[in-house]
Amino acid sequence: MRTSTDQELPGRDRLAPLEAFLERSPTVAAAIVEADGAIVSTNPTFVRLAGSPATLEDAVAEGQYNLVAQLLDTAGRDWGSASAGLRTADGHRLDCEFSVRAESGGVLVVVESLQAPADRLNDHLLELNNELIGARRELAVRNRKLRELDELKNMFLASASHDLKTPMSSIVGYAELLGESDLGEAEVAMVAAIERSARRVVSMIEDLLGAALVMTGELRLLRREQSVAVIVRESVGMIEPVAAAGGLTVELTCPDHALAEVDESRIMQILDNLLSNAVKYSPAGGKIEVTCIDGAQEVAISVSDSGIGISKEDQSKLFGRFFRASTAREHGIAGTGLGLANARAFAEAHGGHLDCTSAEGAGSTFKLSLPKTVGHA
Ligand SMILES: Nc1ncnc2c1ncn2[C@@H]1O[C@H](COP(=O)(O)OP(=O)(O)OP(=O)(O)O)[C@@H](O)[C@H]1O
Ligand SMILES: [Mg+2]
Repeated sequence: MRTSTDQELPGRDRLAPLEAFLERSPTVAAAIVEADGAIVSTNPTFVRLAGSPATLEDAVAEGQYNLVAQLLDTAGRDWGSASAGLRTADGHRLDCEFSVRAESGGVLVVVESLQAPADRLNDHLLELNNELIGARRELAVRNRKLRELDELKNMFLASASHDLKTPMSSIVGYAELLGESDLGEAEVAMVAAIERSARRVVSMIEDLLGAALVMTGELRLLRREQSVAVIVRESVGMIEPVAAAGGLTVELTCPDHALAEVDESRIMQILDNLLSNAVKYSPAGGKIEVTCIDGAQEVAISVSDSGIGISKEDQSKLFGRFFRASTAREHGIAGTGLGLANARAFAEAHGGHLDCTSAEGAGSTFKLSLPKTVGHA
């Protein structure tokens, strides 16, 4: 391309491949323009169409204005910016930003900005690189501190929950015994309230302990072959009085036996949470259906309710620790949001799955699948 000034344009040699293309193009009018609008280089088509203006401003001034304006006007408002990565002769990559528009008579290309000269660019890159190294170092220090804090939190969770569980269990036991003794009506109600609250605390402690074990990777399963059907019946048997008190019916479809190698206490914990959720999140008059299917390689248990349901958005967060849907909070229903996170972790530790299908206001179904043998996990 023809250069209109004697001064050497910084980085000019890097545009060589683009210039070579433009030089030969009969349909592309091109000008390389510096930041202040000075035209430093034009191709023959540009000269043919626009003459030899010194600046872009001159090009659109009287005389050449019509010509350039004509091109711009017919270009309409479709000017889009584009970029091209060109490989220079010395192997460097040069990114050019330019405006481009398909024209009936061709394409007008104006290179809008020339990159800074290579050495300035290198200095800048070097500076950025140093900043990056500093930031990474700082990040590494913060990461280490966070890891230490995380370990501390897990240790605290595990030991505090463990130490709390023993005294709480004795409170539950003695409240149970007291309830069976000869008490007046008011005392019976008080002892029952103590027992209920203490059981709730024990179950929260168990959830915290379970979460701590999952987080520290210390969850160990005690698996032995047993009837999942029997575990399901027992769990359903325990929730039935609570469901009845909430005006809900429970329907169970289950084979006599469905043998699988599982950790009974963890499966109980999963089912207790699914069933207590079904009760907690269903208004009176609803129905809870529990189905156990004994498959060839897995046992599938589903718990369906006719409750408040879960929105699509919340379904994606459901199995996160401490997540509680806004509907649960709005309805004033108690919970810590650990139950489902633990339940899924326990199911996956068995090589199984726990999934949910639901729609807001239209009930929910939770399906737990467990491989029958460790080999099938
Ligand atoms: N059957 C259900 N119907 C509607 N919402 C549900 C159901 N099961 C769970 N959810 C929603 O998912 C959230 C997480 O459930 P999760 O069992 O983990 O916690 P939680 O029941 O609130 O507390 P907890 O830790 O005592 O179990 C609930 O707070 C509720 O918003
Ligand atoms: Mg729950």
